[in-house]
Amino acid sequence: VRGVVLQGPREITVEQVPDARLPGPDGAVITIEHTAICGSDLHLYHDAITGTGVQLGHEFIGTVHEVGPLVRSIKTGDRVLVSGVIGCGQCATCRAGQPALCQRNQSGIFGTGPDLPGGQAEAVGVPAADAFTLVIPDGINPEQAVLLTDILPTGFLGAQRADIAPGGSVAVIGLGPVGIMALQSSLLYSPARVFAIDADPARLARAARLGAETVDASDGTAVAKVMEATSGLGVTSVIEAVGADQTIIDALGMVAPGGTVSIVGVNLSMDMAYPMGLAFLKSLTVRATVAAIPGTWDALVPLLQTGRLVLDPVFTHHLPLSAAAEAYRIFDAHEDGVLKVLLDPTA
Ligand SMILES: NC(=O)c1ccc[n+]([C@@H]2O[C@H](COP(=O)([O-])OP(=O)(O)OC[C@H]3O[C@@H](n4cnc5c(N)ncnc54)[C@H](O)[C@@H]3O)[C@@H](O)[C@H]2O)c1
Ligand SMILES: [Zn+2]
Ligand SMILES: [Zn+2]
Repeated sequence: VRGVVLQGPREITVEQVPDARLPGPDGAVITIEHTAICGSDLHLYHDAITGTGVQLGHEFIGTVHEVGPLVRSIKTGDRVLVSGVIGCGQCATCRAGQPALCQRNQSGIFGTGPDLPGGQAEAVGVPAADAFTLVIPDGINPEQAVLLTDILPTGFLGAQRADIAPGGSVAVIGLGPVGIMALQSSLLYSPARVFAIDADPARLARAARLGAETVDASDGTAVAKVMEATSGLGVTSVIEAVGADQTIIDALGMVAPGGTVSIVGVNLSMDMAYPMGLAFLKSLTVRATVAAIPGTWDALVPLLQTGRLVLDPVFTHHLPLSAAAEAYRIFDAHEDGVLKVLLDPTA
């Protein structure tokens, strides 16, 4: 099958990769219909930190082509969405929908290294299919289904873990697709004030349309602007959706005493300078979250079906899989008003 391969920093090819096969008796092979590019893919794209020759992609939906003998919940021909993060599928945390915390140490993300294949391909093998796939429910359209594989759960958990109170205040740092999911999820908690922070004018305009007070971070003074807008108090909740050292430090700076910082941006640093004094003197709650993707589906599916959560369209670009190199370039450069790219392996 054809798949997207990272050859080195900023070097993407689409080429033949090993055919998708059943990863075991509890696995399934999925023929992919749609697959998206994530900000997490950009971390790999920039530095090729997990090596070269990596097959990319962890956000995908498709049709079940084959199932192993132990699979009970899906069958050939079903249309399914797949959690971007998986685990053993059998331990207590996996069964609770939290594969990132797999107790058998089998947690993994599709398309990030040699252990799991990439979902930016024509087909992929999915281990522990009962735990990590969901038949696409009635009333969920393909774009929503793709969002349920990673970034909607991530934004939703970012908001859930930010302790937003009705009438409270929240700031979202980073208005990429994840930040936009977090922003819209925040509104479920009825905050009185919502600040949206980024340096990209088009992304700020989108957040303004969604009702947020925008803060332009391009001059490095986002914290001061939020403090000024809140009479020096800061906001009670901050969701960090960038993953840079500086934006985590900014989050600690703009949160009010007693407040909560909820980090969903990926930051794998083992030695960043952390302003512990701020966290201590303000008695902060700081949470970091690798999304428990399947664990959110029971809440998010009905929220979407009932229209209690109406998502602004995020897929600004639809391209064939063969255009993946161009798609990565556009998404990385914020060209052409891009927010998120959907790749279609069947086009
Ligand atoms: N925790 C999880 O499970 C999980 C899941 C998916 C993605 N992520 C992470 O979420 C983050 C965002 O993903 P995305 O797809 O939205 O990526 P993205 O690259 O499209 O968005 C990042 C945004 O941050 C903005 N930004 C950069 N520096 C900034 C600064 N100093 N101040 C304010 N804004 C700034 C950029 O302009 C951009 O709009 C990434 O780190 C990604 O890896 C985490
Ligand atoms: Zn993702
Ligand atoms: Zn497990």
